[in-house]
Amino acid sequence: MKILGIETSCDETAASVVEDGRIILSNVVVSQIDIFAAYGGVIPELAARSHLEAILPVIDKALRDASCTWADIDAIAVTHAPGLLGSLLIGTLTARTLAILHNKPLYPVHHLKSHVYANWLEPENPGTLLYEPCPDGNPPANKEGSPDFPLLALVISGGHTQILYMAAPNNFKIIGTTHDDAVGECFDKIAKILGLPYPGGPSIATAAKKGNPAKYHFPHPKVANLDFSFSGLKTAVLRTAQEISGGNFRTPSHELAGKLTEEQKNDIAASFEDTATDILIEKLQAAKAEYPAATCAIIAGGASANALLREKLKNHEIKGQPLCPALGIPVYFPAKNLSGDNGAMVAAAADAEIKSGVQPANPYKVNILPRTPIV
Ligand code: KG4
Ligand code: ZN
Repeated sequence: MKILGIETSCDETAASVVEDGRIILSNVVVSQIDIFAAYGGVIPELAARSHLEAILPVIDKALRDASCTWADIDAIAVTHAPGLLGSLLIGTLTARTLAILHNKPLYPVHHLKSHVYANWLEPENPGTLLYEPCPDGNPPANKEGSPDFPLLALVISGGHTQILYMAAPNNFKIIGTTHDDAVGECFDKIAKILGLPYPGGPSIATAAKKGNPAKYHFPHPKVANLDFSFSGLKTAVLRTAQEISGGNFRTPSHELAGKLTEEQKNDIAASFEDTATDILIEKLQAAKAEYPAATCAIIAGGASANALLREKLKNHEIKGQPLCPALGIPVYFPAKNLSGDNGAMVAAAADAEIKSGVQPANPYKVNILPRTPIV
């Protein structure tokens, strides 16, 4: 089954043709990063306008790259929730129109489900999907190399930070969520304080490579259960930046970058990244302890591209302490180019929904749901 996946929930216009939920026949992503770097963040109206310009050429290219005509496409999938209202509208209305025009079944898909299913896509560059049995000798959960159920999914993006328990395909239970900022949002806001370019995740990671992660000690939030909080960490970074740049706690955040040295910025970036990734892993460990039946963990969403997080989980250690047996299960990441928003993951999610009996939507009636949770 070949599905055309369309994604426009934020600032990437993307389309992809995927076969059987795994094999990527084409994957076209037009990013608006260059536009928004100048503003330091996404401007929703500009994003929607850019999607409008790009969407049809992007879909045409996805079909051409896959050597497909409309006759070869079995279904259309589109992100209809959650995301920026104007951005979601462009993708969803385009998908609705194409479904009616070409008489194809239409599947509206939740964005976080798509990020999760990116872990089943076959990487375009073999070897980028990490599959690491625990060094304590635990056998890999699944010899085929794709995640098996039940599993834990850590979803870390610009808008969400959640731990999900999936007892079976297309079965999502939220077991942990953030009380305030998402971790990706925290990277973006701290990058802004440090005067690093948008998006913050990759620029913090680059600065952190040159810094000392032990220089500053940022607090771990005291949040009960499997929930997260990142606003305290963000404030702690702000206070540290104010303190080392002259000790005036009234200095507005937008003036701080000019008062910090490169070395100070790099050390803050490294200490923050180290703390944020430790927090994520600690919660994943706690989730495994609460859900011992989980056979593996998958990491999903834009921040899953983070190399330090991958490194810590790959080496099964956090600050010299072994992760095993607390985690002790294989951990999967999407290929790096599938961590961020793309159409292939949308098609993969629709494929999983179809296999679990979900029926197509009425293309005249599909609505966008900018703020709806995964379940
Ligand atoms: O999934 P995504 O592309 O869009 C949303 O659904 O939000 O995630 C974007 C987020 C941004 O906050 C970005 O800073 C973060 O993912 N991100 C990273 C890295 N690359 C992107 N965060 C940490 N480290 C990275 N290497
Ligand atoms: Zn996303």
